[in-house]
Amino acid sequence: MRIRYLTDDEVRTRAPEIWRVYDEVFGDQPSYDLWLDGMLLRHAARDRFRFAAALEGDDIVGFSWGYVGAPGQYYSDSVRAAIGDEAADRWQPAFEVVELALLPEHRGSGHGRALLRALLDGIDGPALLSTWDDDTDPAVRLYLSEGWRRIGEHPKADGSRTMQIMGLAGRSRGDAPQPRSDRAE
Ligand SMILES: CC(C)(COP(=O)(O)OP(=O)(O)OC[C@H]1O[C@@H](n2cnc3c(N)ncnc32)[C@H](O)[C@@H]1OP(=O)(O)O)[C@@H](O)C(=O)NCCC(=O)NCCS
Repeated sequence: MRIRYLTDDEVRTRAPEIWRVYDEVFGDQPSYDLWLDGMLLRHAARDRFRFAAALEGDDIVGFSWGYVGAPGQYYSDSVRAAIGDEAADRWQPAFEVVELALLPEHRGSGHGRALLRALLDGIDGPALLSTWDDDTDPAVRLYLSEGWRRIGEHPKADGSRTMQIMGLAGRSRGDAPQPRSDRAE
């Protein structure tokens, strides 16, 4: 298993593979086309989009992606509404971790942690994500063990449940590079 960033072109050309993993892990999108235009490519156009892939051979078996959010975007605005302007001014702008997923047969061996760390490598400012409101969930255990803390809660975009908002305070990492999706490592 190796982790490397996909370039923007690779994200586009390998979107069907990414979808297969996404759909198996989350299964919450009505169709490939809606997911592609409404999520993956929409996010890929955002500031400092970065996509880390977990590869077994050349097969994508997991991924993590994110970008720096901005006012007017659904997620950034939802967090601001939930935690209030004063807190939001401290947490935003933030690198927003949008997705983290591994196919079930590849879990439990540290690859999820490696994907998350790769995604955040070199991020100096704060980071935000939303996840299940359940501190026994594997993903939440992972985030807590990486220093993330609950900072609020808001409804899932589809209104189906409450999600906890987690934040990772900004760190200074000297001259570490800012995230770019075209850095292959
Ligand atoms: C979250 C996910 C990526 C973790 O991947 P993974 O490779 O299994 O995780 P790792 O092996 O790197 O484990 C990292 C930490 O996660 C937690 N963890 C992982 N599996 C766990 C489990 N079954 N039960 C409890 N905690 C677990 C532990 O804290 C673990 O650290 P430890 O091994 O030192 O105890 C994976 O479970 C997944 O794809 N889940 C479904 C998708 C999902 O929920 N994504 C997050 C949406 S916000």
